[in-house]
Amino acid sequence: MSNSQKPSREEILQANKTVHASLANSGEYNRSPHFREENQEKVKAILAGLVDGISKDRIKSLDLGCGTGFIVHLLVGMVDEIHGVDITDDMMSQIDISSGTVFLKNSQAENTPYDDQSFSLVTAYSFLDHLESYEEVFKEAFRVLEPGGVFYSDLNPNRHFSKLMLSLEESPSASMPEIVAREIKGMLHNGAYYEENFGISEETLNNAEPLKSISHGFDPDEVITVAREIGFSRARYEYDWYLGQAAVMHQQESGDHQAIDAYLRMALPATRGLFKYLRFVLEK
Ligand SMILES: C[S@@+](CC[C@H](N)C(=O)[O-])C[C@H]1O[C@@H](n2cnc3c(N)ncnc32)[C@H](O)[C@@H]1O
Repeated sequence: MSNSQKPSREEILQANKTVHASLANSGEYNRSPHFREENQEKVKAILAGLVDGISKDRIKSLDLGCGTGFIVHLLVGMVDEIHGVDITDDMMSQIDISSGTVFLKNSQAENTPYDDQSFSLVTAYSFLDHLESYEEVFKEAFRVLEPGGVFYSDLNPNRHFSKLMLSLEESPSASMPEIVAREIKGMLHNGAYYEENFGISEETLNNAEPLKSISHGFDPDEVITVAREIGFSRARYEYDWYLGQAAVMHQQESGDHQAIDAYLRMALPATRGLFKYLRFVLEK
């Protein structure tokens, strides 16, 4: 995490283009953990549930910050038209448009070229922390959604988790378990890895995700309040991905993961600092 001054909007946009062009062109971006098969299946099931709930003959969706097409590809065959916007052409050029139902534009998510009420579904995955202001993007999603339309955003860093990791970093313990040490390292000290492997400076990396590096992610209750003020009639959040989940899923008995996940959810909000991400589902 950085204590640096807030970068300007121009610096944030430029940092995003630099970081994402480099990660896209090296092939690194599509090796991000969210591309793993099990996560793709999970997100596909969430999208299918949202699409099922939309009572329209033709469904048009818009993905904000679509990148290399993580969400776009999952939606092919599920909805009639999938539109995507991003500011990094090197990311978008990796999207498969052969279905004929995918339409891409280079545009900032804060100010898209679409008419009011054009879409039934708006999505934003691993995206909100890359913005200067998530409120502006919520307003844009609200504007382009039809009444009854849904805005789904996922893989947003949970501020309760970041604060817990920061507090552990400040009072280190000699017996820090490996899974905790790895999370702290990933969150606070991953600049060196990107500098070494991709020539991306720590400052550029931090500037590309100011709502993570400076704001330490999102406070879910605050986000829900903002969504309601903008006009969303229903707004909910869910915590996702508990500390050490990958290790449990890959090294323990099958069934352990479900039991741990269910227990941690049952004990919320006491356990809210143990979940890494937040999912938001907002209805216009
Ligand atoms: C972490 S990537 C996520 C890509 C994709 N949604 C995914 O889940 O893999 C963030 C993306 O947001 C794009 N981006 C950053 N700021 C943006 C903005 N203001 N408007 C549109 N796209 C933006 C970047 O170019 C990058 O492709």
